[in-house]
Amino acid sequence: MSKTGALDLASGLGGKLEKNDVLSAVEKYEKYHVCYGGEEEERKANYTDMVNKYYDLVTSFYEFGWGESFHFAPRWKGESLRESIKRHEHFLALQLDLKPGYKVLDVGCGIGGPLREIARFSYTSVTGLNNNEYQISRGKELNRVAKVDKTCDFVKADFMKMPFPDNSFDAVYAIEATCHAPDAYGCYKEIYRVLKPGQHFAAYEWCMTDAFDPNNQEHQKIKAEIEIGDGLPDIRLTGKCLEALKQAGFEVVWEKDLAVNSPLPWYLPLDKSHFSLSSFRLTALGRFITKNMVKVLEFIRLAPKGSQRVQDFLEKAAEGLVEGGKKEIFTPMYFFLARKPLSATE
Ligand SMILES: C[S@@+](CC[C@H](N)C(=O)[O-])C[C@H]1O[C@@H](n2cnc3c(N)ncnc32)[C@H](O)[C@@H]1O
Repeated sequence: MSKTGALDLASGLGGKLEKNDVLSAVEKYEKYHVCYGGEEEERKANYTDMVNKYYDLVTSFYEFGWGESFHFAPRWKGESLRESIKRHEHFLALQLDLKPGYKVLDVGCGIGGPLREIARFSYTSVTGLNNNEYQISRGKELNRVAKVDKTCDFVKADFMKMPFPDNSFDAVYAIEATCHAPDAYGCYKEIYRVLKPGQHFAAYEWCMTDAFDPNNQEHQKIKAEIEIGDGLPDIRLTGKCLEALKQAGFEVVWEKDLAVNSPLPWYLPLDKSHFSLSSFRLTALGRFITKNMVKVLEFIRLAPKGSQRVQDFLEKAAEGLVEGGKKEIFTPMYFFLARKPLSATE
């Protein structure tokens, strides 16, 4: 069952954490970040704790606002947000040339919205890899409801150390997930290892673009807002991802920032000037209402202490994402298709 009601938001808040531990988890999470004096090296060294705290705290907010797929999409005029999200998932399936019966890996699968869509679109068996226990429990429940639980499964593990033998998968994809890796090379190298030779890896990466100026204070502020609001150790430049792919052994078939020619900007659902009934909860008014609702739920103790603070850093994320998108210094859809050479022995 989808969990998209206000009470679902309150009861899921904190994920697998004890409700009494939510406030201290928020405090600890915030301290990892620049806005609270945190350091990049500490975020990288403690990425498992930082990212898991983040997803325990935010998953019920994500499900409330986004549904089952936690990612952005380029969008055509006349297309709803939901339609654009599905099309973005189908695009990956087509790029990977998925064939019925393929064994596919979804790296950093969330609660499995894209996994279910791609499995049904391509008649493949998709394994979702995720390090967050709460998201996996939600994913399993939703797989049962969608009746894909016989062909698709979830594995709880870190994508920096995958529990799969070499050359296990016919295709691998990652949607807005490997940006959480403390080091892109280490993560891509693991993907390379588990992919069969001659097969493809495709991803949508969150990146800073070439327009990002590290000496510009405003750019740095936007980057820090996105990092705290989205549980990221350090957002890499597109060029760094490309370099890491090649270093891991991949041949890059093609790559492009899909934000560049999107007829409607990807950040539109979060933009203050935009109003939509179909994605109302993501709009500025929808978020304002959610903020007040969470305040009440926390006051009457249906939501744990610390819930409003989670909403606050998510609001910071929304602002950073819209500003980063408008200034074109940030993209959540740096796409690449990469191939493991047929001659690869590893
Ligand atoms: C923004 S969500 C995207 C989820 C999904 N791809 C989607 O589009 O709905 C990022 C996901 O990456 C997962 N993740 C982050 N770091 C991870 C790690 N080290 N190992 C495995 N999964 C990780 C998170 O738990 C979360 O599910």
